[in-house]
Amino acid sequence: MLTSCESSGISSLTTSPPLATMPAVLACWHIGGASAAGKRRSEETMPTICITNQKGGVGKTTTAVNVAAALAGYFEKRVLLIDFDTQCNATRAFGYDSGSGGEVRLGHLLEMAEDGQTNLPIEKAILPVEVPLLDLLPGQKRLAKYLPDHRPDLLAAVLGGLSSRPDFTIIDCPPGLNLLTTNAIFASDWAIVPCEHAVFSLEGLADLLAMLEQLASAKRDFDPTNFYRILLTKVNPARKRSTEYVVQELTPYKDKLFRTVIRENDSLNQAHAAGKPVFLYDSSSVGAMCYHALTRELLDYEETRIQKEQLARAGQPD
Ligand SMILES: Nc1ncnc2c1ncn2[C@@H]1O[C@H](COP(=O)(O)OP(=O)(O)OP(=O)(O)O)[C@@H](O)[C@H]1O
Ligand SMILES: [Mg+2]
Repeated sequence: MLTSCESSGISSLTTSPPLATMPAVLACWHIGGASAAGKRRSEETMPTICITNQKGGVGKTTTAVNVAAALAGYFEKRVLLIDFDTQCNATRAFGYDSGSGGEVRLGHLLEMAEDGQTNLPIEKAILPVEVPLLDLLPGQKRLAKYLPDHRPDLLAAVLGGLSSRPDFTIIDCPPGLNLLTTNAIFASDWAIVPCEHAVFSLEGLADLLAMLEQLASAKRDFDPTNFYRILLTKVNPARKRSTEYVVQELTPYKDKLFRTVIRENDSLNQAHAAGKPVFLYDSSSVGAMCYHALTRELLDYEETRIQKEQLARAGQPD
């Protein structure tokens, strides 16, 4: 039961040890490239996770960028970060401007997937970033025009067309419940829903969660409520009214909350402005510690989720 800020993990964050500085390298790993060594795992253990909330400014991009960077830089996972927002903020968070892209753009990949093509040339679409094992598929301003109304599955088709899957694919969603969001959710194994620690921030949450569950049930045959985890962001324990509001509103979802919460911390803002994940900007900041702790919890959750899915499948008749 979520009864206080403390039980949602705030106090533990203040005692986390400082992190080792993330190693920065100039070269980056490319999907399907020669450096993509390591034991292959089955596709079901290579999850796609979207970061979604129809509300703007709640920390979706900050979460996508820093979780992707931590998975790759600290936990040695091969990660593809997809900027699926026409604002291109995740692209900017790595120091690129919003018009940046590779030889092939994401919109073109969507067109190729619509034509039924496989083995898509995604390595020509990615941009190198300063974090080892992390690839960025940059955003595109008019991305929505590549998504026909009847194809909520087109991004899933792009990912299905990859010649080699990364360990984790992280999708940064735009605000709003639009075709981009639907495509991202449909392509995902599960979703992180960042919610801001502020009064009125949870209005509309029930609608989003219902949509997530509906899309999950459309493509799966197990408990669709496993499909999301809620993450509290911009937490400031001094804001007592916000805490009371959030605790009350989130009580029905207490089993769906990440224990880790993301504290309000200006280093996250500054890192974004500097075009770096927070680990490369100030690895000893509270923001860095929060996202490191979240990523560790995410890895634990992922392991449990896979086990539950395998058990559910084993118990089902053919
Ligand atoms: N924990 C935090 N503490 C302080 N500032 C934060 C925190 N998380 C995010 N921010 C800042 O809040 C602003 C909005 O964050 P972000 O861009 O991640 O939200 P978003 O949900 O992706 O927004 P949008 O819906 O527009 O895409 C940014 O300036 C970001 O640097
Ligand atoms: Mg964003």
